[in-house]
Order: sequence, then structure tokens, then C-alpha cells
Amino acid sequence: RKPPSRRGSMADVPKDLLDQINRLEELFTVPQEKLKQITDHFVSELTKGLTVEGGSIPMNPTWCMGFPDGYETGTFLALDMGGTNLRVCEINLPEEKGEFDIIQSKYRMPEELKTGTADELWDYVADCLQQFIEYHHEGEELDQLPLGFTFSYPATQEYIDHGVLQRWTKGFDIEGVEGKDVVPPFEAALAERGVPIKLTALVNDTTGTLIASAYTDTDIKIGCIFGTGCNAAYMEDCGSIPKLAHMKLDPNLPMAINCEWGAFDNEHKVLPRTPYDIIIDKESPRPGQQSFEKMIAGLYLGEIFRLVLVDLHGNPDVKIFDGQDIGKLKKAYSLDASFLAQIEEDPFENLSETQDLFANKLSITTSKPELELCRRLAELIGTRAARLSACGVAAICKKKGISSCHVGADGSVFNKYPHFKARGAQALREILDWPKGKKDPIEILPAEDGSGVGAALISALTLKRCKEGQ
Ligand code: GLC
Repeated sequence: RKPPSRRGSMADVPKDLLDQINRLEELFTVPQEKLKQITDHFVSELTKGLTVEGGSIPMNPTWCMGFPDGYETGTFLALDMGGTNLRVCEINLPEEKGEFDIIQSKYRMPEELKTGTADELWDYVADCLQQFIEYHHEGEELDQLPLGFTFSYPATQEYIDHGVLQRWTKGFDIEGVEGKDVVPPFEAALAERGVPIKLTALVNDTTGTLIASAYTDTDIKIGCIFGTGCNAAYMEDCGSIPKLAHMKLDPNLPMAINCEWGAFDNEHKVLPRTPYDIIIDKESPRPGQQSFEKMIAGLYLGEIFRLVLVDLHGNPDVKIFDGQDIGKLKKAYSLDASFLAQIEEDPFENLSETQDLFANKLSITTSKPELELCRRLAELIGTRAARLSACGVAAICKKKGISSCHVGADGSVFNKYPHFKARGAQALREILDWPKGKKDPIEILPAEDGSGVGAALISALTLKRCKEGQ
């Protein structure tokens, strides 16, 4: 279903604003041919990332070797350090195929923690785990509980219970963690508190999503996150991972690859970056990194929108929010993706909800033409994000020669941003030239809980593998 067009309502928009709407359409629209060109470049970058020389996409081997068969059993803890919340789960995998029970607690991840010190981070994480155990297992004598730690940042792993942080992403900037194994300080903080937990697997959220979704749907071939960050994982054969050739693994063994595709096109060869994308990058804690992610992930959508409006307000040829104090709008990262989502969801012809949003959140009074520009801008930014994300999915399918499959997707943008799914599906049709009127052979579907159930399953698979002595 196509989002309804508001073309008719542009009749009263003055020329200066109409010119800007047209300019923004030019800047943010990604036509079919460009999508195809991006996808083709993406395929070659995925391949390059698996070589010894490497490329810009890390393509991290995860040591998660194979899909669950649905008969995994046991009780596991899962810790999800995603960025917005910290979640602790206890997952029970019973004898019944594909079933699970879960209890969970959520803890707020204080904003200061993201730019604080490493000790503060690990202390906080260990405190949350300790609280969870004390609350749910009061007075019990516990053996060491196996834990799957969903650490959703790029990590180099030589084995599954180890991971050297390559670089922080998603606005995190904690000194002294990059380039080091994150497991020892994490375990030390637990040991200090006497918390009976043994880390079994360090897991990326995309790998968790892939495995959790495959547990209940055997057509799943890819796990994706479209949330604060954006990334995907899929299963590769060890024989197709030249950078692991020295390990002489069985070439037919499967290995999940965490693509870290947010780093796609860090060299700026194909992505249609706008001046606003360039500012986002420059002002971020890691300029030059995560070029793709910075155009599509939830963390950045509101910021792109904000930067456009601030730019238009400062343009002497454009009258927008004229003579008003835009102090609040000038604050970096003051708008998040939910602000855009609310604008896109405004059901009223006169955009009165959007008007209220601007008044309440930004103390800005808006005219109808200004509201029309804002609505169109939100649509453009949201649509670009969905269409560019589809290039990544199409690229993995092309690389692997997959012509039909399910893709498990999770994350706030996928689950909550209006029309994101439909726009992504439309882009896939354009990239892969599917015949009209038939069921889409590749479908992006809501995933099972990857950071909870997925991390538990990967822990179960790891323990099983250890027992079998592989
Ligand atoms: C960022 C992280 C990546 C994660 C993604 C989604 O891209 O680098 O590890 O999977 O966000 O959370």
C-alpha cells in the first residue's frame, strides 16, 4: 500500500518553499537505477570484506556455527546492551520444538554512560545483572548460569566467548575499550560482586536475530536490525571466507557473519550523500565511520530533519519560521526518529498534530505551507532510509544466490516507523525486478527476540558444540 499523496495540498505553498521542496526531493530521492548501482557495489564490498585484505565492511566471523534444530534445551541468561535500554532475560528452552519461556527486566541506560568511563560501564552492567539474580533467585543456591551477552557493536572474535571492540558506533564514545577484549573487564565486574554467571557467548544483535528467527521459521536466511543502528547477519560457508582459510576449517561448515554493513561506502563511492549527511558525519564522535548507517539508522533520522530545517531558516531566500526563536531546534540531536514518525502519522488534512508537535516540543509556530514542507521532508527522509536499507538485503541475497527466503528484522525503525516495511518491500521489487502481481519471493518479516532468545540459543548451541568436542 502506497502512502497517500499530499500533492493536492501543495496548491497554496509559496514559491520559495515550493522550490525548496523540489530541491529536497532531488536530494533525497533514490531512483531505481541508483538502488541497483548501490546494490551491485554492495555485493562486491561484502565479498571483499571476507578476504584477507578486507574492505570497508568488517564482515566479522561470529563463531556461531549453524542454525538451531528447534530441540535446544536448558536455562540461560541473556544480557542485551543495545544503546537505549539494558535488558536482562532468563530464557528457558523446553523439550518441545521451537518453544521458549522468558522472564525479563529492563534497566534504563543512562545517557552519561555512553560517554563515560569503561569502569562505570562495566560496573553498571554488572549491577543490573546482580539485581536481576537477587530479585528472581532470592535465597537460592545457584550453579553458574550460562550467559549470552548481546553486545551490538563491531567486534573481532577469535572464539565465541571473546570479542575485541573494533570501534564504538551509535554515538558511544567510552575511552579505553576500543581495541580490547570486552569480556575480561565484564567478567571482573561480575566476580567482584560474586554474581554466579559464566559468559558463554558474545553475540551481535543481528546474529541473535538470525538465529532466534530461524528457530521458529526455517525459511529465514538473514537477520537484520533497523533500529538505533542498522546492520545484518547471514550464514556463510567457511570455504567462502578466505580470511579464515589459515584455520583449515571444514569448508562446508556454516558460520554466521556479522556484516557490520553500517560501514558500507565509507569511501563515498556510491551513496548519494547530501550536505546534511556530511554534517552529521563531521559532528559525530567517529567521523568517516558508518557512512551507510548515518543515512538510515534511527539515531540519525531526526537529526537529518533538524539540520535541513536549521539550514532553511538560515537561508535569506527562504521564509520559514520567520522571525521566530528557533533555539530549541538548534540543539543537536533534539529530535529523534519518533518525532518524524509522528509527523508521518498525522492523519489530519490540516496537519494539526504536526503543528502541535512543533509548538510543544520546539516552541515554534507553523503555517500550513511550512507544515507541508515538514511533512514532505519527513517522508523523504523515511523513504530514503527504507530504500537504502533494502540495498543491503538485496546484496546479501545476490551474493549468496538466494532467490527466495525470509528475512527476520527487528529494531525500533522497522517495528514503529510508518510505512518502513512497505517502502523497503517496494525497493526490493525495484532492485530485483520481480514480476508484478506475484507474491514477493524475499520477504522482510518481524523477527523473534534476537537479543534475548537468540543469545540464549547461541549459548545452547555453543555448549552443545563444546560437549561434542568440536
Ligand atoms: C551498529 C553496530 C552493530 C549493530 C547495529 C544494530 O551498526 O555497529 O553491531 O548490529 O548497530 O544495533
